[in-house]
Amino acid sequence: MLTAYDVMMAEIFDSAGIEILLVGDSAANTVIGYSSTLPITVDEMIVFIKAVSNGAKRAMVVADLPFGSYEQSPAQAVETAVRLMKEGGAHAVKMEGTAAFAEHVRAMVLAGVPVIGHIGFTPQAEHALGGYRIQGRGDAAETMKRDALAFQDAGAFCILMEMVPSPVAAQIDEALRVPTIGIGAGASTTGQVLVWQDMLGLGGHRTPKFVKKYADLRSVVTAAVGAYHQDVLTGQFPSEEYEFDK
Ligand code: KIV
Ligand code: NA
Repeated sequence: MLTAYDVMMAEIFDSAGIEILLVGDSAANTVIGYSSTLPITVDEMIVFIKAVSNGAKRAMVVADLPFGSYEQSPAQAVETAVRLMKEGGAHAVKMEGTAAFAEHVRAMVLAGVPVIGHIGFTPQAEHALGGYRIQGRGDAAETMKRDALAFQDAGAFCILMEMVPSPVAAQIDEALRVPTIGIGAGASTTGQVLVWQDMLGLGGHRTPKFVKKYADLRSVVTAAVGAYHQDVLTGQFPSEEYEFDK
């Protein structure tokens, strides 16, 4: 699984063989530039989901339920999930939470919405959790396993674990029937996910320990744009081959 927010990247990732494209609420950070995921709205998410759906030929498109769009009741979760699928074209949704939200999962699944339950570090709860920190250490591991099982029992088809010690993620994966996806959760999960701008080195920011940088797109783009700028200043672009002479 890899995040995607626009049609061209969705097309590229799909044809490179990525099975699941996640339209994450990380779009709040990576596309809009908010400093957390909290401000992004359902309407904003739908624009990105449409774009990714337009680019995906084969991949499954999963969309995040953004902060404030599902917590109030199972009915609110169903209403938002239906919008993400109907208006955006998502095939499934991902919801952050704990066992306390199992009824929300159950209601969505009953409505025909495939659901991924996101546990461990859940960025929408960053203020409640006291910042970006690893979850599930010590006694908290048992609670996290209960969250995973509660989501599975409510019908979630997959559990995503973020920033969890690898042995804890392995135990939870072992306890579940459904597949798991990890980010900062070690190698025992069924699949992995990364934010594309992090793994392709587009952002200028420091990336978390769990990110492997597979490219340095920031340098590639900076060099190319710098060369274009220089060519225009020195009159080397456009040269004759780029002109219409008639
Ligand atoms: O929003 C997102 O990109 C995510 C993944 C990093 C799991 O939720
Ligand atoms: Na997210």
